[in-house]
Amino acid sequence: MRSSVLIFFFCVALYTAAAQQSLYHNCTGGTFDSADSGGFGGSLSALFSKLSSASLASNAANDTAGAGTDAAYGLYMCQGDLSGSDCQSCVQVAIAKINQSCAGYRRGFIWYDQCLLRYSKVDFFGQVDFAGVIMVNSETTSSMEPYEVMSALVEEAPFRQPLMFASNASDLYPIFAIAQCTSDLTPDSCHGCLTSILNFMQTCCLHKRGWRYLSQSCWIRYEATPFFSVPSKTEIIRSRCSADDFPAALLASEQSNLLAVVAELESNANSSGFYNTTIRDQRVGDLFGLALCREDPAALPSSACTGCLHRGRTAIANECTNKTQGIMWYDDCLLRYSNQTIFNVVDSEGRTFCSGESVSSDTANITITGAGAVVEAAVGNASLFASGIFTSRNANTSYVTAQCTRDLSRHNCRRCLGDGIRIVTDNCTQRRGWQFLSGSCMIRYEAYPFFTEMAPTTTVPRGGPGGGGGGGNSSPGGGGRRSSNVKVIAIILPIVAVLFLGS
Ligand SMILES: *[C@@H]1O[C@H](CO)[C@@H](O)[C@H](O)[C@H]1NC(C)=O
Ligand SMILES: *[C@@H]1O[C@H](CO)[C@@H](O)[C@H](O)[C@H]1NC(C)=O
Ligand SMILES: *[C@@H]1O[C@H](CO)[C@@H](O)[C@H](O)[C@H]1NC(C)=O
Ligand SMILES: *[C@@H]1O[C@H](CO)[C@@H](O)[C@H](O)[C@H]1NC(C)=O
Ligand SMILES: *[C@@H]1O[C@H](CO)[C@@H](O)[C@H](O)[C@H]1NC(C)=O
Ligand SMILES: *[C@@H]1O[C@H](CO)[C@@H](O)[C@H](O)[C@H]1NC(C)=O
Ligand SMILES: *[C@@H]1O[C@H](CO)[C@@H](O)[C@H](O)[C@H]1NC(C)=O
Ligand SMILES: *[C@@H]1O[C@H](CO)[C@@H](O)[C@H](O)[C@H]1NC(C)=O
Ligand SMILES: *[C@@H]1O[C@H](CO)[C@@H](O)[C@H](O)[C@H]1NC(C)=O
Ligand SMILES: *[C@@H]1O[C@H](CO)[C@@H](O)[C@H](O)[C@H]1NC(C)=O
Ligand SMILES: *[C@@H]1O[C@H](CO)[C@@H](O)[C@H](O)[C@H]1NC(C)=O
Ligand SMILES: *[C@@H]1O[C@H](CO)[C@@H](O)[C@H](O)[C@H]1NC(C)=O
Repeated sequence: MRSSVLIFFFCVALYTAAAQQSLYHNCTGGTFDSADSGGFGGSLSALFSKLSSASLASNAANDTAGAGTDAAYGLYMCQGDLSGSDCQSCVQVAIAKINQSCAGYRRGFIWYDQCLLRYSKVDFFGQVDFAGVIMVNSETTSSMEPYEVMSALVEEAPFRQPLMFASNASDLYPIFAIAQCTSDLTPDSCHGCLTSILNFMQTCCLHKRGWRYLSQSCWIRYEATPFFSVPSKTEIIRSRCSADDFPAALLASEQSNLLAVVAELESNANSSGFYNTTIRDQRVGDLFGLALCREDPAALPSSACTGCLHRGRTAIANECTNKTQGIMWYDDCLLRYSNQTIFNVVDSEGRTFCSGESVSSDTANITITGAGAVVEAAVGNASLFASGIFTSRNANTSYVTAQCTRDLSRHNCRRCLGDGIRIVTDNCTQRRGWQFLSGSCMIRYEAYPFFTEMAPTTTVPRGGPGGGGGGGNSSPGGGGRRSSNVKVIAIILPIVAVLFLGS
């Protein structure tokens, strides 16, 4: 199943990154002689060993070792979706690191991307401690949806068993969010902890596209890209909103024009798979919109197009609130609006998304050559779409599609796609899967069939160059819409600010 591939790939990618560096650690609480194997040091060693064994079976636990003045209390928590072995690796790395960094201290805590570890000579079980780390992304968003999603998780997580952990990968928006508490808390104190840190985020960080608060007793995290394994197929959505807002004085009219544009796109684009429209407004200026559905008639009944447009219509207005331009790309459709003329103008701000896995240079060459042929076929197609399947010497198969929005002239379509190929050639060299997404055209390559295989297909035999794209209809099925997203998700947003909150 594709989703298991996705889970595996993602955990590994993240875990490797996480294992290398702790996010933060802190040592306090007075000192003891760490060379003495008895006393508090002995209790601590015993505690570490208990926690390390427990972490294979559970993603959160607390335990004690020793007695009286030498007692040591400790706990760990792994992100709720981690496998037992990944949790244990994270905890073991944390133990080794804290044992070294906090050597001789009676109290210590440490965070990694996916686990935290904490110990003390004092029994802290059941007490909520907010001291921790806040991290935010540099990108911003005006959407309140992440907050809404997180608010729901904050209500759910405390009542989950055995882990107080809840997650949501929203299909509608690019939102991935988790909330989780350490095992020593009661559901009530867990709820209190999560509510408090979410309230705190409200005072600083909700306009950021990606934020987390890692406290010693609970944590919340939201990103616009996946950072935990998604249990079922989740569509990956990408968006781009302009930096500039509609002038405040015109906002009401502009927003109502925007709603009119997306409503018109929704009701019209599904019949032919493309629609462009202009709302003329003398006072505030014209507003332009277009929508394009994925061209893959067999795999994509118009209901998928209709459904995608429906979700996108609501989402784009929310995601790009107040913005003069917006684009959202889904697996099945693209929606775009702007206060500037966009028709038959090539959007030059296309972006690439490359898989983390690699292919041989032979396969990469075949793919790029094949993609060039698919581009030519798309330019020659009335719907400005083509697909192709290419097989290299080592029997690796590449699946490629190219598509332009139908407002483009053939000349501009070729320009847009040609630029795309040049950019992915540079940016995604020898990657096993990539996408180029612009507001005017899209190219996508995967090592598995993500569109309906069509007959006749054009292949590049035995590693020779040449060949071309094929278009056509075929039977439905083909696995077309399965987890298209394995390849584009390995983008971990850079974190720009780390701020410590005193307890
Ligand atoms: C470590 O934690 C203590 C108590 O929570 C806090 O007072 C102190 O400022 C922290 N030290 C650093 C370097 O963050
Ligand atoms: C912790 O450090 C002490 C002294 O440096 C060492 O003896 C002990 O084996 C370490 N324990 C773990 C679990 O790494
Ligand atoms: C949109 O603009 C209005 C008026 O300037 C402002 O009150 C509102 O907070 C803005 N909304 C967002 C989500 O930025
Ligand atoms: C995730 O969030 C979305 C958007 O708020 C909501 O519609 C959906 O029900 C949530 N899913 C889960 C499993 O909580
Ligand atoms: C974990 O913490 C709870 C209270 O918060 C406590 O009742 C329980 O005994 C602790 N577990 C262990 C193994 O110490
Ligand atoms: C297109 O969408 C509109 C509105 O959602 C719907 O009424 C219409 O039946 C759809 N047409 C097709 C061909 O699916
Ligand atoms: C689009 O809106 C921005 C911000 O209000 C404005 O500067 C720009 O002139 C507008 N463009 C057009 C073509 O109206
Ligand atoms: C190409 O890769 C560079 C470096 O990773 C990145 O900064 C740039 O935005 C990428 N270009 C596109 C078009 O995605
Ligand atoms: C495809 O390429 C990979 C690495 O480049 C190679 O390991 C594999 O054997 C090739 N063949 C197939 C059928 O995947
Ligand atoms: C792939 O193409 C590059 C540049 O065109 C070339 O240097 C390389 O030898 C080719 N590799 C294979 C395996 O054909
Ligand atoms: C749609 O786009 C074409 C350019 O491709 C343009 O000529 C036409 O006016 C647009 N239609 C509307 C309704 O804006
Ligand atoms: C263009 O592609 C579509 C979808 O693959 C196909 O149905 C159509 O026949 C093609 N048109 C031409 C002129 O090649």
